This record gives sequence, C-alpha cells and structure tokens, in this order.
Amino acid sequence: MIPLCDPERCAAAGCSATVCVGAGLASNDDVFTRSTQVIPGGVNSSIRAFTSVGGRPYVVARAEGARVWDVEGNEYIDLVQSYGAVILGHAHPDITAAVTQAAAGGTSYGAPTPREMKLAEAITDRVGSCEQVRFMNSGTEATSTAVRLARGFTGRDRVVIFHGNFHGATDALLAAGGSGVATLGLPGTAGVPAGAVAETMVVPYNEVPHLDDSVACVIVEPVAANMGVVAPDAGFLQGLRDECDRVGAVLIFDEVITGFRLGLGGAQARYGVWPDLTTFGKVIGGGLPIGAVGGRREIMETLSPLGPVFHAGTLSGNPIATAAGLAALNLLDADVYDTIGARAQRFSSLLTQACSSAGFAARFPVVGTLVGMVCGDAAPARNFAEAKQTDETAYARFFHAMLAEGVAMAPGAYEAIFVGLAHTDAVLDQIAERAHRAAGVAAAG
Ligand SMILES: Cc1ncc(COP(=O)(O)O)c(C=O)c1O
Repeated sequence: MIPLCDPERCAAAGCSATVCVGAGLASNDDVFTRSTQVIPGGVNSSIRAFTSVGGRPYVVARAEGARVWDVEGNEYIDLVQSYGAVILGHAHPDITAAVTQAAAGGTSYGAPTPREMKLAEAITDRVGSCEQVRFMNSGTEATSTAVRLARGFTGRDRVVIFHGNFHGATDALLAAGGSGVATLGLPGTAGVPAGAVAETMVVPYNEVPHLDDSVACVIVEPVAANMGVVAPDAGFLQGLRDECDRVGAVLIFDEVITGFRLGLGGAQARYGVWPDLTTFGKVIGGGLPIGAVGGRREIMETLSPLGPVFHAGTLSGNPIATAAGLAALNLLDADVYDTIGARAQRFSSLLTQACSSAGFAARFPVVGTLVGMVCGDAAPARNFAEAKQTDETAYARFFHAMLAEGVAMAPGAYEAIFVGLAHTDAVLDQIAERAHRAAGVAAAG
C-alpha cells in the first residue's frame, strides 16, 4: 500500500496531519520532480507548470486568508486565489465549518439533496436571467453542457466564440482564432479533431458578428478575464443580444469567472443584458469543484430527464461542494462587492504607482472587482490581437521578482489578479511596497 504520508519525515517535521500536507517532504523541487514521474508535467492544470514564465513551481502545503505556504515553509501573499474560485480568502472559517459538517454526513449519495436545491434557489434569486440551474463539477463541464443544450434546443449546429475568450477544456470551444477576422473550424490544440470544431466560428471580441439561422449559440465572456481583463465596449453585449434574437440563436454568457465575482448578479447585472444561458463555476463552489448552467426555464427543461438533451454526473450537486458554495454565497452581499471593488481600484493605483516610480512600464486595468496587468506601453486592449501587445517577457521578469518578494501571481501574462475579501488595505499596501522593489528588478532586465 502507498502510505498517505512519509512517516519518518513527517514525524521529523512535527506534522500530525492525517492527510499529506507535504510537511515532511524536503523541498519544492523534490516534490515537483517526484510529481513529474507520475503526473504529466507534474501538474493537473497546465498553467501551473510555469511554462510561460520559466522556472519551476512552488508546491503548496497550506493556505489561509490572503496567504499560501509552500512545503519549505515559505510564505507568499496569494493573488492567484485558485484562479478566482476563492473570493473570501483561503480556509475561511464559515466554509471550513460547512465542509467539515457536510463531510461528516457523507461525501456523495447519488440522490437529490436539500443543499443542491438551496444553492439553485440562491442562484436563481440573485441572477436575473436564471430561472433554473443544473449543477456539475467544473466550468468546463458547464460550457460543454451549455453548448449541447443550445444545439439541442435550437436544432442547429453552429457555435460562435470570441478570439481570446477561454471556456475551459471543451473540444468544440478549443478552436484556433486568427487575428481580426472570423475563422471557422481550426482545432486550437492537438487531439481536437477538425470535425469537433467544424461548426465553431471564431470572431474578434468587441465586434458584433453578423449571424444567420445556422447559429445555435454565441458564447462569450461578458468581461474577458482570460486575456488580461478586457471590458466589453458599450453596446457590445446588447448588440449580441439583439443579433441572437434576430436569428433565434441562444446567447450564453460564460460567467465562470465573473459570476458572483463582479457582483451578486454577475456581469449580466452590471451591464443590464440578459443571456438565455449562463455558465458558472469557481465562486459558486466556495473553492470546491463545481460548475453549473442556469437559464430560461424553457431552454433548461430541454435537459434530460425532461427533454432530449442528455446530461448526467456521478458527483453533480455534490453535498460538500454545495455546502461550501452555500456558505460562500451566504456571506456575499452588496457590501462585500463594494468593499472588494474599492480595494481593486485602489490596488490598481498602488501597483501603477509602484511600477512607474521604479521605471517599469505596466498598466493595471480594472473592471469592477477584477484587476489585470499589461506589461509595456500597449494601449488599452479591445480584443485579443491588441491584448497580445503585452510584453510577456517583462511579465515573466516581474512575476519572478514578485515571487522572490513573497507575492504569488498567476504564472501567465493574460491571467487576472484576484483581489478578495482577505486582501485588506494593509495587505495591499504590503504588496505595493514589494511590487515597487520587484518592478525595479524587472526593469533592470
Ligand atoms: C471563463 C471561463 N470559463 C470556463 C472555465 C473552465 O472552468 P474549469 O477550470 O472549472 O473547468 C474557465 C477556467 O478558468 C474560465 O475562466
């Protein structure tokens, strides 16, 4: 049997945890090297491997509030926050209590539960366009289900996506996009057959495409948070709404990041445009694996068992994930979003000042509670071609200088900076001070 822990090393490190927290494992490098033997690239989500910034990742032992600690005991102020799944800070006591209590009652049943009903009610209460919600286990599952649902509902095949938007590892949505022009049917990665994207059209963000009646759905990140935080132009989302209505296509907002992060009603409430379907993930699971599709009853009831569009999942509506999600949504009210929004704005100014006074060219665009980083002198981006003007090499230098200062950012130039409730003003000041030094190092090359 493989032991959960390394008994001798764990005892030597004084660790009495019943599941491995890595306390007895010698170093980040040792653990990562050992991981690469049994996990491709040593990671379970490719960005974590540091490929685009170089170097090797720190290996997390534990986290609390705004901070994470690696297996060597190094402390970092964490701006990754599980890529936005965590908004209240790591190991928030209410979520920890909800998870512990739920786990004691069993971890999965394969039958309906009151908690999934309550979480669905919490979402339909707060998100204007959602009359019903179906749960699953990831944002990827949510986007793939939403596309299947839209195709099944309309009886059409074509899917329109936007270059630079990210919808997870869903084959039909992993299509390559050219810059500035619509492209059709080019796989965005090995392993996606041409047939899987033959009906996927990739168009530039912030331009309303002309649709026809072959289009089943348009899926969009209402705020593009995977290309450095790009806001929708005034009228863009409404333009999509109108164009979908004109041809009878389903409008899907992918709110896996923006849902319950931009505010209680997500991006749709912020911009006052109501999609037919919304995909959720991240925050609605309080940091546990979850995904959901919500939308108009008429479309949602096309899902099995009521309708012909199949969906199922062994762990869907999982009792622990829904407990954590409920605990998170219980704490998220308008005041929390005001607080985080004000901090995001202030943080952007602090970082801008820290970088410019160190001679490092960088901008920090803010949309509500979301902050991005653009390195270099590029003008504010409206689409992916413009977002690509960011200086990725400069980002990598800044990233490593920040890590050396004890601040963990996402190891990719297009990821958002996730400010949450645990990033108090004092923590943000601390980061800004370190950012000034890091920017000096990055500027020196
Ligand atoms: C907008 C968006 N949609 C979908 C996904 C996929 O979610 P998951 O990683 O939970 O599969 C992501 C992941 O980051 C995302 O940012």
